Amino acid sequence: MSGLTIAISGFIAMCTYLVTSRMIPRFKDMFINANLYGKDLCKRDQPQVPESFGVLIGCAFLVAMFFFIPIPVTFEKAAMPDVQTGAKPATFPHEEFAEMIAALLSICCMILLGFADDVLDLRWRHKLLLPTIATLPLLMVYYVNCNITTVILPKFARPLFGYSLDIGIFYYIYMGMLAVFCTNAINILAGINGLEVGQSVVISASVLCYNFIELAQRHQMDCHKFSIYLMLPFLAVSLALWKYNKYPSQVFVGDTYCYFAGMTFAVVGILGHFSKTLLLLFIPQILNFLYSVPQLFHFVPCPRHRLPKYDPKTDLLHISTTEFHPRELNILGSVMVYILKKLKLISWKEQSDGRVITNNFTLINFVLVVFGPVHEKVVTQFLLGFQLICTIFAMIIRYPLASCFYDT
Ligand code: UD1
Ligand code: MG
Repeated sequence: MSGLTIAISGFIAMCTYLVTSRMIPRFKDMFINANLYGKDLCKRDQPQVPESFGVLIGCAFLVAMFFFIPIPVTFEKAAMPDVQTGAKPATFPHEEFAEMIAALLSICCMILLGFADDVLDLRWRHKLLLPTIATLPLLMVYYVNCNITTVILPKFARPLFGYSLDIGIFYYIYMGMLAVFCTNAINILAGINGLEVGQSVVISASVLCYNFIELAQRHQMDCHKFSIYLMLPFLAVSLALWKYNKYPSQVFVGDTYCYFAGMTFAVVGILGHFSKTLLLLFIPQILNFLYSVPQLFHFVPCPRHRLPKYDPKTDLLHISTTEFHPRELNILGSVMVYILKKLKLISWKEQSDGRVITNNFTLINFVLVVFGPVHEKVVTQFLLGFQLICTIFAMIIRYPLASCFYDT
């Protein structure tokens, strides 16, 4: 029966893709009239592009899910006769239903908060607070439904701590932090056409592949089915958005989409019980975050926009830069910058007055530091290719290597 529900989910996803890709162009003017637009900074004439299309995409996703919710309940449970009596079970699958509703509540909450961020341009500390609040429904249902807070330890740690360790409240803190990370990590690996959506498409397709591999091996079937039910419509709406957001962008996704995408991944990772594997699929985002730490926590000056600088003469992107005097940095800042400089991970130009110009610490700028000025489309393709390679790498770690550390 699960094959049938997955097929229905796929059918709903396909319909959602068709409807959404027809809807997006019709809403462009409406967004511009409502002053929801941004300048495409990497183009010659910096055209006005409608922004925050994530809100439309998020709504399309929610509607698709609302149509889908009754399906697994009706098909799977009603069709499964009781083994002993042969009678159909009278009990309603409360737990699965509660999980699905809580997942959608968290995602819906994140769409709302993301849209508030787009409209009100919130400060950094709020960006950390919003996803924490939005995960609360999820953590509540996790607490009520299963409250499993034990982690299986790798083989080498078992002589010391045993087979598993109950980390209690820290498991909840970890889950909350996962949501904060996923939402913001996508938002800060952004600024060139198609990158936010492109990376989400690659990650969701990878998650789907992983779920199907696990289903085929009959591992934790309920968890992976739950993930597939959310990922199929997510991939559908993201592909529709990609059509209009890829170079040259006709619409921008806004923080709404970044938060929506991040939260959807966090939800499937947490309730699907594969948060470690999910983090493996976020390797480029983790690298970008680590590289960004000196600027995110203001050890090094961080301008409002860190996206690359456009050169209208050549139509290529150059690194965007930040400027400081080494004396202005505190000890931690100096150590971080020293390490990055020694490892040749940043560009470094000293001026006569002792001030230094370096690139902004993002993966996009790093590509430009290594390869020199490149066209916007090529940078996006390069980063998406890297995301794909990381997925393959993640699968190698997940399958052959994990068996060295765990008994999978
Ligand atoms: C994050 C980044 C910021 C980056 C911005 C770009 C951090 C701490 N913040 O900020 O450095 O500049 O995303 O999205 O890393 N835009 C384009 N082309 C695109 C996409 C966006 O020019 O393909 C510009 C548009 O002017 C658009 C604006 O970026 O209006 C959106 O920026 P916003 O999402 O508000 O920036 P943040 O998420 O706060
Ligand atoms: Mg943003």
